[in-house]
Amino acid sequence: MSAPQGEPGVAVVTGAANGLGAAIATRLHRAGHTVVVADVDGPAATAAAAALDPSGVTAHAHQLDVADRDSVQGLLDFAIELGEVRVLVNNAARTRSTPLMEITADELASVLSVNFHGVFYACQIFGSYMSDRGYGRIVNMASLAGQNGGTATGGHYASSKGAVLSATKVFARELARRGVTVNAVSPGPQDSPAVEQIVGADNLATFAENIPVGRLGDPAFIAEMVALLATPGAASVTGACWDANGGLYLR
Ligand SMILES: NC(=O)c1ccc[n+]([C@@H]2O[C@H](COP(=O)([O-])OP(=O)(O)OC[C@H]3O[C@@H](n4cnc5c(N)ncnc54)[C@H](O)[C@@H]3O)[C@@H](O)[C@H]2O)c1
Repeated sequence: MSAPQGEPGVAVVTGAANGLGAAIATRLHRAGHTVVVADVDGPAATAAAAALDPSGVTAHAHQLDVADRDSVQGLLDFAIELGEVRVLVNNAARTRSTPLMEITADELASVLSVNFHGVFYACQIFGSYMSDRGYGRIVNMASLAGQNGGTATGGHYASSKGAVLSATKVFARELARRGVTVNAVSPGPQDSPAVEQIVGADNLATFAENIPVGRLGDPAFIAEMVALLATPGAASVTGACWDANGGLYLR
């Protein structure tokens, strides 16, 4: 039986074992959703789900590779068993900072297949399911890099995120009449392990000073933005990109 539109249902978050995805899963769980912590790192997903609900009733781990279409279909099949899937957050990504002219064909394919193909497959598969039910909220994690070409990340990462922004628009347009919204959140550098790894712990303070607001972003706030877009009340927001970049990119 489907949940009434004002009530939480199942929320699926890819790449939810770590970083921003874990913060988003935590926030959606707090909002009352049954959360699927989906990640290529199965043990980390299991640990993250257990941290949300040790009893395993309202938080579930699922191992998948978003770059594999069948794996994404398997994620939907898994989530449907838990109830009506009302929210999908396409958060999984490979963040790489290889110098532009040194990016190999294999690394380019790998970054694009996870960061872009994974989002595209999930928008098709979950979008069709949600559209049949007449309700859904899809949020794609884009990046400032997809808008300005990147500050510290590689050209393949930036290109993949630009493609995510385009995919957000085309799926938003396709699904608008079916009660399904598709939006993007576009963070600048966050106070997160991925940024620390790319910038280097010793350079973090200087890096943050060079952001107009003088600080890294807060993943918990990104999770608030995602959670707001995931509410029924966000019905008129679709095809949008909400920025949180500390003033690094103004438009
Ligand atoms: N951290 C930032 O400052 C920042 C800035 C802009 C955008 N973003 C975006 O936010 C999202 C989360 O970023 P983060 O910093 O938390 O990343 P992260 O690297 O800390 O976590 C990414 C997660 O995705 C998982 N993952 C990787 N490949 C996968 C695959 N093929 N299938 C399933 N799961 C896979 C990883 O195991 C990991 O748990 C990403 O889309 C990233 O591009 C982050």
